[in-house]
Amino acid sequence: MVTLLRPNRPWTRPENRCKKGAQGAGGRSAKPLEKVNFWKNGRSGRIRTCDPCVPNAVLYRAEPHSDKRPAYSVGFGAPQAAEMRNFAPVKTGLETSILPAGPAAAEAAARTLAAGGLVAFPTETVYGLGADAANATAVAHIYSAKGRPAFNPLIAHVADLAAARRIGRFDARALRLAEAFWPGPLTLVVPKTDDCPVADLATAGLDTVAIRIPAHPVAEAILRAFGGAVVAPSANISGHVSPTLAAHVENDLAGRIDLIVDGGPVAVGVESTIVGCFEAPMLLRPGGLSRERIEAVLGAPLARPPVETESDDSQPLAPGMLASHYAPRAHVRLRAQDVAPGEALLAFGPARLPGQKAAAAVMNLSPAADLDEAAANLFGYLRSLDAKAPKAIAVMAIPEEGLGEAINDRLRRAAVAR
Ligand code: TXA
Ligand code: MG
Repeated sequence: MVTLLRPNRPWTRPENRCKKGAQGAGGRSAKPLEKVNFWKNGRSGRIRTCDPCVPNAVLYRAEPHSDKRPAYSVGFGAPQAAEMRNFAPVKTGLETSILPAGPAAAEAAARTLAAGGLVAFPTETVYGLGADAANATAVAHIYSAKGRPAFNPLIAHVADLAAARRIGRFDARALRLAEAFWPGPLTLVVPKTDDCPVADLATAGLDTVAIRIPAHPVAEAILRAFGGAVVAPSANISGHVSPTLAAHVENDLAGRIDLIVDGGPVAVGVESTIVGCFEAPMLLRPGGLSRERIEAVLGAPLARPPVETESDDSQPLAPGMLASHYAPRAHVRLRAQDVAPGEALLAFGPARLPGQKAAAAVMNLSPAADLDEAAANLFGYLRSLDAKAPKAIAVMAIPEEGLGEAINDRLRRAAVAR
């Protein structure tokens, strides 16, 4: 079952890294890469396959399934992977328009997507950074704009179930979940259809595709105006906290994308729950729809994914499950029972902690201990506390039930030492 998560048509692996003038060990000649921007320590630039101007840069090549053109993306081995957490976003000269949501913005978004551009738009979970799912070049731009590891596949967003069934094969259980929870904060990983139009680059060579129908009028208007599937990761620099406001997107990606559609704050605040519709449906990522609600519809518990690993060659077993993720710059200290001098406090519930008075800043996810409210506030409050540059962010314990499972998942990733 787990092997379903491995690329069946793998990227050029790190050991096949392109040496100057050499071919990858796979024996294919890698074509020069014209337009992938990289950045490191605040500088931007370009990388060509056979020009190892950036030590440790890895070219990933997506094989075309049929007559489609191959696509490329760039990932970084250590130490760049670690350094990328400390970069400052750089302007690449793109003029980023910001439009208030409405019919004109939906039309502009559809035009931009059709032209291969990148559009950030609100969903009920977090803001997404969308590209035409069928356009491999546009998808490659998502990876470069976000600095996203190339092995991490994307979710295809569609407007309705008919569109979903054109790209993925739904068995009875997948259909039951789709009918119960779509539109909504649930992503289903299902086998691709034979003529699935989603670019191989967007699925990282897997034979499965992640699909969701977002429950947000602005997202729906854009998807309907565009007409095709839109792949969209969260609209933040890779590894950074997901955006719950248009201003968060602007902070991370201005100058790197074409358009931001501002639909105000999102409602759910954590990303969608991802369920792999394998032999036994598997919870691949806890998220905005609680495990309990999904299990009630299935009438059975969700399987757990294999233990997370991040191997040396940066090929995680289940893509997107890197241990360190969703990270603010400040160190995050979990289950805090007091606040040390210089720390900021991310509180939950009515209790007060020793040392709280002297905290660098205090924000309460939900004074009434409401987990849905806490999820909606999580990423925005992490950003706000981080902006005060505290010694660390101390986080109070949060119950592991309902959306608490997703909140704790994101907090654990934010707390992983980097
Ligand atoms: O709420 C959300 O899901 C947001 C909004 C914008 O829709 N999107 C989002 O996308 O969180 P992203 O790219 O940050 O997370 C997508 C996750 C990754 O962990 C990726 O590895 C996983 O989905 N994924 C995508 N395709 C997959 C597949 N075929 N098999 C397993 N995991 C997959
Ligand atoms: Mg994300």
